[in-house]
Order: sequence, then structure tokens, then C-alpha cells
Amino acid sequence: MSVSDVASLVKQTVDIVDVVGQVVPLRRAGHRHVGLCPFHQEKTPSFQVDAENQLYYCFGCGSGGDVLSFVMRYQNVSFGDALRYLADRYHIVLPEKGDPRTLGAGGADAARKQREMLFSVLRTAADFFYRQLHHSSAGKIARDYLQRRQLPQSVVEAEKLGYAAAEWDGLLGHLTSLGVDPELGVAAGLLAKSSKDSKKLYDRFRNRLIFPIVDEQERVVGFGGRALSDHLEGEPKYLNSPETAVYHKGRMLYQIPRAREACRRNRQVVLVEGYMDLLAFHAQGFYRVTATLGTALTPQQVRILGRMADEVVLAYDGDDAGEKAMMRALPLFLQEEVAVSCIRFPDGLDPDDFLKREGLSGFEHLLQGRRDLGGYALRKILDGWDGSSVGKAKVLKDLQPLFSAVRQPVLRSEYLRLVADRLSLSEEIIERQWLHGSRTGAGPSRAPRRRSFQPRAPQAQTLEERIVRLMVHHPELIPDVAASEAVGHFQEAGLKTLAEVILGSPHPPDHPFQATRVYDGLTDPGLQELFTRLLLEECGLEEPRVQLTDWLEMVLRRRIKQENDHLNEALRQADQDGDLSRMLDILSKKVQSLKPPGKGEGPIG
Ligand code: GTP
Ligand code: MN
Repeated sequence: MSVSDVASLVKQTVDIVDVVGQVVPLRRAGHRHVGLCPFHQEKTPSFQVDAENQLYYCFGCGSGGDVLSFVMRYQNVSFGDALRYLADRYHIVLPEKGDPRTLGAGGADAARKQREMLFSVLRTAADFFYRQLHHSSAGKIARDYLQRRQLPQSVVEAEKLGYAAAEWDGLLGHLTSLGVDPELGVAAGLLAKSSKDSKKLYDRFRNRLIFPIVDEQERVVGFGGRALSDHLEGEPKYLNSPETAVYHKGRMLYQIPRAREACRRNRQVVLVEGYMDLLAFHAQGFYRVTATLGTALTPQQVRILGRMADEVVLAYDGDDAGEKAMMRALPLFLQEEVAVSCIRFPDGLDPDDFLKREGLSGFEHLLQGRRDLGGYALRKILDGWDGSSVGKAKVLKDLQPLFSAVRQPVLRSEYLRLVADRLSLSEEIIERQWLHGSRTGAGPSRAPRRRSFQPRAPQAQTLEERIVRLMVHHPELIPDVAASEAVGHFQEAGLKTLAEVILGSPHPPDHPFQATRVYDGLTDPGLQELFTRLLLEECGLEEPRVQLTDWLEMVLRRRIKQENDHLNEALRQADQDGDLSRMLDILSKKVQSLKPPGKGEGPIG
């Protein structure tokens, strides 16, 4: 694997929106995400990330590029370091025999080794917990617990559940006996350091049922542990692995490989909040289900869900807390434009209790009657209207934040119609009220402003720049450019190279245009920036083909004029020198240059 293969592997795996979004708050605007540029001081956002092409560009300071150049610039590190950093964060296994020179000082090897050692110690721990559950006398308490919770043996086996015994050094002793460095256990989140004496280590998970958590490649990356008694005495009911180099609870979901597999046939996934809830589904043979890992849902998780399914069904607890959590999740789905619906379990039940009571058929019945979550939330707020005019204004105010998160015009108009109907107001009045509310500042400050980002009008556009921008925005016209020879007469070296690379890469009508291919074909960072700028600038032409024809002709005419000027000057010189034969030579060239452009250099005839 060459370095460029590694780079493209990293770029295929990593989402630039995710990487940038971790350090720059981004607001979505169509395929773009907009935020304040991290590379210069600014008050209004001119920094854009293009999710589709995986590129970024700042219209304020002109920096731009792909995810690797972002990391290089943001962290001020080398190309190799940026690669290693991303590979590490996103668990991309770099090639076994990576050339250490090209990746820089063998650091990638070290990072990979460290990660592999973490995976290995986590696997060892999982096996240890598994054996404790099944083959130790101490494990009886956990076996009894599982029986009480009616979890079938097949599920316990399939999910490799385990048991961490009540002692402080069970796993510690086991790892030591195997010659594993205890510090590795700390790095893996399995052992903790005593607060009094940091040399003293102890087991993090004690007297708990253990749920191993695996990543997309089915490697154990962390654990959840449930207390075995409901008399908690200050202990948390669930204890989870901390964030480690391989475990990121905001970017992973419980049982994701299984759910992804099951969603291949039916692209609808059920999201629950609890490990036990999820296993209750597995117990019923239902696998299109995944769960958050003890934290609130994150945008990254919504993106993962949106890639594996066309619809996410929230199946949170039937109590008020469950409903609140759903409401908090709604804006994330709206922002990411992932379709989301919800089901409500009766009597405040959670999925686990409900499935035990009503079985899978009961759940499937609820699933049939699922509601669009946005509509559900709207109706909820509308139901709170007391019928008064004052109340009407308040309801509108409460609805505003929800609306400002809706990105899809279809949904927006549907919701607007619902609100207008219920409040007996016209849609225009409602929108005007919201607009008014946010302009006077009287509206809720938590409502993000909806004004979509307007890139500055491209300044000092040159003819050549306009042509290349048009090629990028209207790739269907690239063949016209190719046919015209104009690019050969470009005078700005950067634009010329860029245009040539575009012409040289696959493009319509035989291939779709791939911006990333062009970007990767550019070796010069300056050109990469130029390209990302042109790509992210508005093109906004009503008649692109007509414009292009004009512009191409202008380039050719410009060239003829320049050639003519040049010949006139030469003629003047020759005249001054009294060099008659040179004058004749120049004159014949002049005649030739008057021929229409693009028709070859045939002899004067
Ligand atoms: P059971 O009570 O065993 O049925 O579990 P549950 O999954 O129904 O738990 P619950 O609805 O109380 O919580 C849902 C999820 O939130 C759990 O699966 C955990 O991931 C997480 N959670 C619950 N309690 C705690 C806690 O005390 N600490 C942490 N960190 N997470 C918790
Ligand atoms: Mn429960």
C-alpha cells in the first residue's frame, strides 16, 4: 500500500464534517455546513464544509482543502502526522508494512501497535468476564440475575455477556498473571488508579453484569456494566467504560454490526436507550435495533443511523423522561435530514417490559402505528394551547425553535400547514410572526437564525476563473471547453493547470464528474485551495452554455489581439531597422493570424 493509498483509505473512511465539526461549531445549509473560520478571526461565518465533495473552504481567508489538509493546518502537523491522527481516531488499520519513511518516523506503527494492544487486552478481559459468568461459583449471582430478567441463554451466549466479580483485583490479577502491563489495562478503561496512590490500581467493573461493546469491525472496544441489585447504595446502576483511544461513546452504538446487517433487507432501524431493552429485542429474534451507550444521542450517531437506514424509529421508555429524550433528539434528525418516527409504549413501560408483556407481535402493532416524530412534537406543543390569543402567541413562540431546525422544504410546509390549521392562522401570518420575533430579538434566543449563508460575490473575477468555475459547476459543459482550445491559451498558470486537470479527469458525457478525483489530482496546495474555492463559490448563471460560448470566444479573441499587437510591434521594429525581409515575414504571419481561430495552421491559399 502506497502513501496515497493510505491517504485515500483515510479519506474514504473519515467524514470531514465530523472532523471539522469537533472543533468548529457548524450549521447545516443544504449540502454545505457553515461556521466561523478557525484559521482567522471573524464574526460572521465565511467558512464552509462541503459534505458531498468532502472539502472545506473559507471565503474570508482563502484557506481550503480536504480533511487531511484541515488537520495539518489546524493542528499544525505534517501530512504523515495528520494521516496517523485520523487513522487512529477512526480506527483505520494502516497497512502492515507501511514504509516508515513515508509515514514519518514509524509513528504510525507505534500508534497501530498501541491500538492493537488495547484491542487484545479488551478481548482478554471479555473472555475473562465471560468465563466468570459461566464457569465460576461467584458467577451464580449473575446467572440468577439473568434468569430473573428472562434473558434466554442463546442471547447471553451470542452477545458474550459476562460477569465481573465483586473483588477489587480479579481482572488486575488475571492480567498480571498473563504478563500484561497493567498500564495497558488503564488505557483500555478496565483498571482505575487509586486517588490516594496512583501506583495502586483496581478493577473498574465490580459485581456487575458485563455487556461487551464492539465497533464496526466487531472488535471489543469497551464495556457496560449493570449492578446486580436494584438497591444501589450510591453505586450507579450502569457503569460504562470511559472514553479511550478505541472507545468513543458518542460515535458508536450498541450492537451496530448486527443492526447494520439486519437493515440490509429492511432499511428501518429501531433506536432504544438501554442495553437490556436492546437484548429484549434480540430475545424475540428482532435485530434491526441499536442503542446509545449511556449518553445522549449525538449528531455523529444520527449520521451513522442515516447511512445504515432510511428511517429511524425511536423506541424510548414510555415515561416522561423517555418522551423528553425523544424531543431532545428531534432537532438532530431534522438537522441531519434523517427521517425519524417514534412509538410510545403504554403505561410508561420501557421496551424490555413491553416485549415481555406483549411480545414481538405487540411491538409490531405499535410499529405499524408509529408517528412522524416532528409531527408528534408539533401536536404535543399544539395540544398545550389553552385556546386564548395570548396562549396562541406563546405556542407560536414554543414552535419556533423546532421550525428553525427543519431543513427539508416539504416537511416545513407540511408542518406549517398543520400549525396554521390548528391555530386558525394563515401560514403567512405565522411566518411573519416568527420573522418578527427573531428580528426584534423578542423571540427565544435558543432559536438558531435561519438565514442561509451568502458567500461573498467572487471578487476580481477573471475571464479564465469564470470559465473554470463554470466547468466545476456545470460539468456537462466540460466537453465544450475541451473542444474549444481556449484552455491552451489561458494566461494564468494556476487556472490553466487546474483546467487541464479537469479536462484530463473523467467527466461527462461518459462519466460523472468527481470533484474529489480532481482534488486528488492536484499536487499543489495552492491549486487545491483555488479548486475548493471555485467549487464552493456560487456560480448562479441562468444560461451557462451561452455564457460559456461567449467566454471561450473572448479568450480566443484576446489571444488573436495580443498576437496582432505583438506582430505590429515587431513590424515597427523591423521597419525602424530597415529590415525588409523580416517585415515581409511578419506581414505574412499577420495574414495568417487573421484566419478564423481553431481551424488549424493550413498554408495560405
Ligand atoms: P434495566 O434497569 O436493567 O432494565 O436497564 P435499562 O436499560 O432499562 O436502564 P435505564 O432505562 O434506567 O437506562 C437506559 C440506559 O441508560 C442504560 O442502558 C444505560 O446505558 C444508561 N444508564 C442508566 N443508568 C445509568 C447510570 O447510572 N450511569 C450511566 N453512566 N448510565 C446509565
Ligand atoms: Mn429497563
